[in-house]
Amino acid sequence: MSIHSEYIAPKGWKPKNPDEDYLITELDIELADGVPEDKFEEVAASCAAESSTGTWTKVDEGKHSGTKLAKKLRAVAYDLDPKTKTFKIAYKKEIFEPGNMAGIFAGIAGNIDSMKMIKAFRLLDVRFPKSLVQSFPGPQFGIDGVREFMQIERGPLLCTVPKPKIGRTAKEQAYLAKILFTAANGEFQGIKDDENLTSLYFNKFEDRCKLVHEVQRDVEQKSGKRKMYLCNVTHSDIDVMLDRADMIKENGGRWMMMDVIVTGFAAVQTMRKHNPGLAIHAHRAMHGLLDRESGAGVYDKGVIVDFSMSMVVIAKIMRLLGVDSLHGGAPKGKMENYNEPMLIQQALQEDITPVTDMTLGQNWYGMKGVWHTASGGLHPGTIGESITRLGENLIVQAGGGVLGHPWGIEAGVEAMVQARDIAMQKEDLNKWIIEHPDSALAKAAHYWGFDPKFV
Ligand code: 3PG
Ligand code: MG
Repeated sequence: MSIHSEYIAPKGWKPKNPDEDYLITELDIELADGVPEDKFEEVAASCAAESSTGTWTKVDEGKHSGTKLAKKLRAVAYDLDPKTKTFKIAYKKEIFEPGNMAGIFAGIAGNIDSMKMIKAFRLLDVRFPKSLVQSFPGPQFGIDGVREFMQIERGPLLCTVPKPKIGRTAKEQAYLAKILFTAANGEFQGIKDDENLTSLYFNKFEDRCKLVHEVQRDVEQKSGKRKMYLCNVTHSDIDVMLDRADMIKENGGRWMMMDVIVTGFAAVQTMRKHNPGLAIHAHRAMHGLLDRESGAGVYDKGVIVDFSMSMVVIAKIMRLLGVDSLHGGAPKGKMENYNEPMLIQQALQEDITPVTDMTLGQNWYGMKGVWHTASGGLHPGTIGESITRLGENLIVQAGGGVLGHPWGIEAGVEAMVQARDIAMQKEDLNKWIIEHPDSALAKAAHYWGFDPKFV
């Protein structure tokens, strides 16, 4: 009998009142070479042990050893499927400090992804109990709050990301913002700093923040239409980020953009706490190092090959920590699997995120929803698919797909607006293009087609 056998639940066991008492995780693993198949149960037990109260050996059980309470608080592995090597772990909620995301993940995703008995590991999902959900702030504005301050009742918001990624001066970026905000009758909402653009000698944060917001205020005043500048505050020093957020507020801005993987959970929670009045747009640079999995097992069709957690888990974390918008990919984007963005959208926006074969669902107890941002290789020929499949609470971002239009930037904006309207009115894109052969959208579609580029 293994030393961890008490970390396995009896066959058929299910947690009673999981949303009241347990945090549940769902895992998919592959046994290391040389570990026999019949060791699967032992490995699952080791995962439950190492991530809750146990370690690799029995320890002193004497008086004052804490063993009695540890026994009560131990996690158990259950729903083991030796064929797919998937299982769940139920953790008593008392072993987690409310409102401390870093602490929770140090436990549930800490040492267990490094165990030698495993050669691949994926944290498929986490289901948080009510008390933990309610211990986090959640989005400050969420979907409705953003609609209110953007004064847009329906439809997705359209935005671009300057390309070249780096090259424009602050002044040149402000000039670009003016074109974007005014082209196509002012139907296009926003501009986002690209992830590489922080504070550089030719484009200082202070200058950019001032100049682009100046343009925003001017255009808003003249047109009566609200615009958005997702201004990148990302820094590894939280104090600097806080200063930058203040600068956005001083310049009349409403959004900060933050790269939430590289800055980390603590940074997101701190920035949310200290910035009433500023919405957080979360970019996810480096997420591939956490969530990318190339094996067929990621689609429930075979083995997995890497160590990862799903983007659905990251989306749940970010909703709890309180971002207002998150990059969640696009069904026809340049980077991710076709169906994953739909799972992410449900985790970000539903009040009851449904359970699927690969995910545990989530009750959000009224926590505000997060805008799903579709981005990465999008162009006018592909954004319709995002709007149809992800719904209208969507920020559609296209960098190359706007700025690379063969007729220029204004035409890129116009083509995006046309493609958005067609998708919203559920019109047939191909038919519309045939009927409007001289349109900016027809030109874009002939140039880029209706699929993402393979990059
Ligand atoms: C982003 O930051 O979202 C990407 O840089 C978008 O750029 P692309 O539309 O040119 O892929
Ligand atoms: Mg980018």
